[in-house]
Amino acid sequence: MLFAPTIHLLLALAGSAVAVANLPTQILYQSPIGLFLENIAVRPSSGKLLLTSVLSPTLHTFDTAAENATLDEVYTFPNATALTGITEYRPDVYAVVASELNVSTISAAPGSIAIWSVDFTSGAPIPKIAARLPRSTLTNGLSTAPGRPDIVLAADSDLGAAYEINMHTGAVRVLIQNAALAPGAPPPALGINGLHPHGGSLYFTNSALNTFGRVPLSGGAPEVLGSLPPAAGSGYDDFTFDAEGRAWVATHPGSVQLFYALKNGTWVQETAAGNVTGSTVFQGPTSAAFGRCGGKEKILYVTTAGGQVIAVDTSSIKN
Ligand SMILES: *[C@@H]1O[C@H](CO)[C@@H](O)[C@H](O)[C@H]1NC(C)=O
Ligand SMILES: *[C@@H]1O[C@H](CO)[C@@H](O)[C@H](O)[C@H]1NC(C)=O
Ligand SMILES: *[C@@H]1O[C@H](CO)[C@@H](O)[C@H](O)[C@H]1NC(C)=O
Ligand SMILES: *[C@@H]1O[C@H](CO)[C@@H](O)[C@H](O)[C@H]1NC(C)=O
Ligand SMILES: *[C@@H]1O[C@H](CO)[C@@H](O)[C@H](O)[C@H]1NC(C)=O
Repeated sequence: MLFAPTIHLLLALAGSAVAVANLPTQILYQSPIGLFLENIAVRPSSGKLLLTSVLSPTLHTFDTAAENATLDEVYTFPNATALTGITEYRPDVYAVVASELNVSTISAAPGSIAIWSVDFTSGAPIPKIAARLPRSTLTNGLSTAPGRPDIVLAADSDLGAAYEINMHTGAVRVLIQNAALAPGAPPPALGINGLHPHGGSLYFTNSALNTFGRVPLSGGAPEVLGSLPPAAGSGYDDFTFDAEGRAWVATHPGSVQLFYALKNGTWVQETAAGNVTGSTVFQGPTSAAFGRCGGKEKILYVTTAGGQVIAVDTSSIKN
C-alpha cells in the first residue's frame, strides 16, 4: 500500500539516538461524520482494531487489512454515551470504560462510570460490568499491569490519580495520586490521560500540564521526561511503548511525539509523524497502538478526534 509522500530521513547517531523525521503515513479511515475516536486495542490473532469514541456508546471493530474498511459495530453499552480507555487484560478479553459523558464539560454524570469486561474468547463478545468508579468524573486511559492478569490501571484525569482495578473482584484502589497527574485547573482541563507501566515505572501523559513523565511503581517522586511548549489546543494524549522501550505519544493538534532514553539516561523527544503545531494529515491524535500480526508489527495505528484511523510506518526506525 502506498503511503503519503514524505521526506524520509533517518540518521543513525552515535549511541542510541533515533532522530526520525516524518515517518510515512496513510489515512486508512475517515469517519464521514467526524466521529471522535478515542482509543484502540489490537486483537491478538486477527490484528483487527477495537475502537472507542467519546461520542458513542458503541464499541467498533476495524479491519486494517480490508480495502476501504468501515467501522463495524461490536456492542453498545447500556446507560452510556461515551467510551474512553480500552485495554486487553487477558488474551482477547478487554476492559472498556463506559460513562454518560458531557462532552462540553468533559465530565461524566456522577455514578455513571463503569469498567466493563468484554470477552471475545468464545466468538461473540460477552460483556459484563466488572467495577464502578462512583467518585470519578473522568476515567480516561486504561492499561494492564505486567504479571497481574486481572489488574487494570485507570487514569482519573480530574482527580489526578491512577487506580488499580481488580477485574475479577471489582475492587478499586488508588495506586498513585499526585499533583503531577492532576490538571491544575477545573474541567474541561484534563490531567493524566494515558498511563502505561514499563520497567518498574508508571509512565503517563498529563494533557493540561503538557508533560510526559513517570513515577516509580514502588512509590517515589514523579519525574517529568518531556514537555510541550504551551499552545492553543496542544496536548499529549494516550501512547504506547514499542519493543525497544520507546514511547509513541499521540499529540494534539497534529503529531506523534517519540520519546526514548539515550544511553546516559537522558530522555529525548522528537516529532515522529505530523507536525507539532498542526498537520494536514492528523486531526487531533488521541491514541496509538502497534499492529500485532500479518507483518504489521511496525505499523503504528493512530486514532484522531477528527474520526481518522491513520497508519504510521515505523519500519525504518533502527532498534
Ligand atoms: C475502494 O474505494 C475506491 C475509491 O472509491 C474504489 O475505487 C475501490 O473499488 C474500492 N475497493 C473496494 C474493494 O471496494
Ligand atoms: C441502566 O439504568 C437502568 C435505570 O437506572 C437500570 O435499571 C439498569 O440496571 C442499568 N443497567 C446497567 C447495565 O447498569
Ligand atoms: C453539559 O454541561 C453544560 C454545562 O453544565 C450544560 O449546559 C449542558 O446542558 C450539558 N449537556 C448535556 C448533554 O447534559
Ligand atoms: C546525555 O547525553 C546528551 C547528548 O549528548 C546530553 O545532551 C545530556 O546532557 C546527557 N545527560 C547527562 C545526564 O549527562
Ligand atoms: C510545522 O508547521 C509550521 C507551521 O505551518 C511550519 O512552519 C513548520 O515548518 C512545520 N514543521 C515541519 C517539520 O514540517
